[in-house]
Amino acid sequence: MSERTRCLPVGPNLDSDPAIHEAARLLRAGELVAFPTETVYGLGANAHAPEAVEKIFAAKQRPSDNPLIIHIGDLSKVADFCSDLPQHFHTVASAFWPGPLTMVLPARKDISQITRGLDTVALRIPQHDLALALLRQADIGVAAPSANLSGRPSPTQAAHVMADLNGRIAMVLDGGPCPVGIESTVLDLTGPPRILRPGTVTPGQLSHVLGIPVNLSDDEERKRHSPGTRYKHYSPDTPVLALMPGVSDSAYEQLLAYLMTKGGVAYLGSRPWRPSLKAFEKATRFNLIPQLYRLLREWDRPNIQTILVDGLNDDQLGLSLMDRLSKAAELVFHNDSDVSAYIQKKE
Ligand code: TXA
Ligand code: MG
Repeated sequence: MSERTRCLPVGPNLDSDPAIHEAARLLRAGELVAFPTETVYGLGANAHAPEAVEKIFAAKQRPSDNPLIIHIGDLSKVADFCSDLPQHFHTVASAFWPGPLTMVLPARKDISQITRGLDTVALRIPQHDLALALLRQADIGVAAPSANLSGRPSPTQAAHVMADLNGRIAMVLDGGPCPVGIESTVLDLTGPPRILRPGTVTPGQLSHVLGIPVNLSDDEERKRHSPGTRYKHYSPDTPVLALMPGVSDSAYEQLLAYLMTKGGVAYLGSRPWRPSLKAFEKATRFNLIPQLYRLLREWDRPNIQTILVDGLNDDQLGLSLMDRLSKAAELVFHNDSDVSAYIQKKE
């Protein structure tokens, strides 16, 4: 554990930036460094050094059976971790890398610290200039889960990393907010291609590029094949309630009125909102995803008792949002009777 965590800004000239240079040195030396990617901030460790990888589990309090994604700066590093390349690898890599897509591939035998005993390994090349500069300068594979304490919302700003991990890691590189805002799509290529975690690369895009249907695996399958999906996730301390499109605006207003009698309510979604209500945050469906984790964190404060969020399941990005929300939410309301049952039960 580090005494103090340095949080360093990065200048415009990435190749000669002293903070990136120092971060690359620390990573090579086996220290933990958090860095931005296009999705969320990652907590990096040298993937070639088992003791360094082990530090991630201690710092995050991560369940020890949850495997890590290895981040690489270019394709030449794939063979360091992957034993043989499945049929669709090159097609997917050329369409989506660098980008918010992780591929699960057959693993080399000597990296069990990362795979936690699985015979597969997750790899990605992030699409973020700072992350790529760091990976290329360090010239190693970097194992990196999201840089939050286990169970908390993923960090999309350096300040979120500091809030969870200050004193537990050597350094945070501050590259500003992450543009995508939710974690990468995880695509398993060790059998027929299937999605273990939905993200902003959609089943439709993958099906189009591969010329075969690529689907989201069902819940049971996901729990079996992607250990991370088994755990409580993404949760602020303030309870989150999710409203599905089946809830009418009038039931929503009823719920809102009821919740306001109990305390402050924060709302993220696109239903009508009364500006006279205090805790006001409004977002349209198109910018819901990049704001989700930031708002969940910001709303963890004493004057807010409930966080209301619009769940969407009517398109493929909505699916990714619901995947995160259903893990963060205490309750999901599917229709008006769910709302009235809730109010009656509480009263
Ligand atoms: O966007 C992202 O993917 C971010 C940034 C930092 O790259 N990383 C991230 O890592 O979300 P993490 O550890 O929070 O989530 C990794 C997910 C977990 O659900 C884990 O179980 C799964 O990927 N995973 C890792 N290796 C796997 C494997 N070999 N087979 C199946 N699932 C795997
Ligand atoms: Mg995570």
